[in-house]
Amino acid sequence: MAETIMRARNIRKSFNIGTENELEILHGIDLDIHKGEFVSIVGTSGSGKSTFMNILGLLDRPTSGDYELNGIDVSSAADNELSHIRNKEIGFVFQTYNLIPRTSALKNVELPMLYARVPERERRERAEMLLELVGMKERMHHTPDELSGGQKQRVAIARSLVNHPSMILADEPTGALDSNTGRIVMDLFHRLHEENGITIVLITHSNELAEETERVITLRDGNIIGETVGKFSKNHDLRKH
Ligand SMILES: Nc1ncnc2c1ncn2[C@@H]1O[C@H](COP(=O)(O)OP(=O)(O)OP(=O)(O)O)[C@@H](O)[C@H]1O
Ligand SMILES: [Mg+2]
Repeated sequence: MAETIMRARNIRKSFNIGTENELEILHGIDLDIHKGEFVSIVGTSGSGKSTFMNILGLLDRPTSGDYELNGIDVSSAADNELSHIRNKEIGFVFQTYNLIPRTSALKNVELPMLYARVPERERRERAEMLLELVGMKERMHHTPDELSGGQKQRVAIARSLVNHPSMILADEPTGALDSNTGRIVMDLFHRLHEENGITIVLITHSNELAEETERVITLRDGNIIGETVGKFSKNHDLRKH
């Protein structure tokens, strides 16, 4: 039996607690994700996908319920402990890339290592190696406004990998990309999953992309309403362009 990396039990999340606008968004979610799994989360807009992902990624806390990450009960952990675990274990990829403007691809990738106090030479070597992995080494001195959407997303993926995370949480990573460019990003995720054994949780509006993963979780109105086995495509070549 595969090891559980994320274990969520009866997760509830409310916003505007104590006001007349108090609203429960997640209504008691149970989910286990195994080490090395590639899982997708689908559901209509407003169903609670990002809210749930923020809890899985320790960016936010549930209002109630239990959450264990790598066997650690994070419900009772202090904020600084959570950010330590987050920086060490989790790489994030977002629809809007979240790169620092007017800063080269190389420096963008180096930045999380600067915070982690990695020595300069090692920082540079690792950033270059990761940019090469995502096919962006030739453009590493370009700033985000000089890169296409797909190129920016590949830089963001390289950045998400710098601290050797055991998991990647990706919220609509292909949402702003055309289907060919989205394909390149998706192939990269397949490669990281297969070659590096990274656990991946992918939020997507594309049923087609979701079906390429091993398990598809469907959310509706803050509840998990279904789970299906994906086709898991073996088509994972990183196409050059
Ligand atoms: N900080 C907040 N305060 C109040 N309500 C919030 C907050 N964050 C999210 N919500 C509400 O929670 C619900 C779920 O939002 P969420 O962003 O998780 O949806 P989603 O499934 O990711 O949607 P999308 O596909 O559009 O990204 C929405 O009704 C949203 O308005
Ligand atoms: Mg969302």
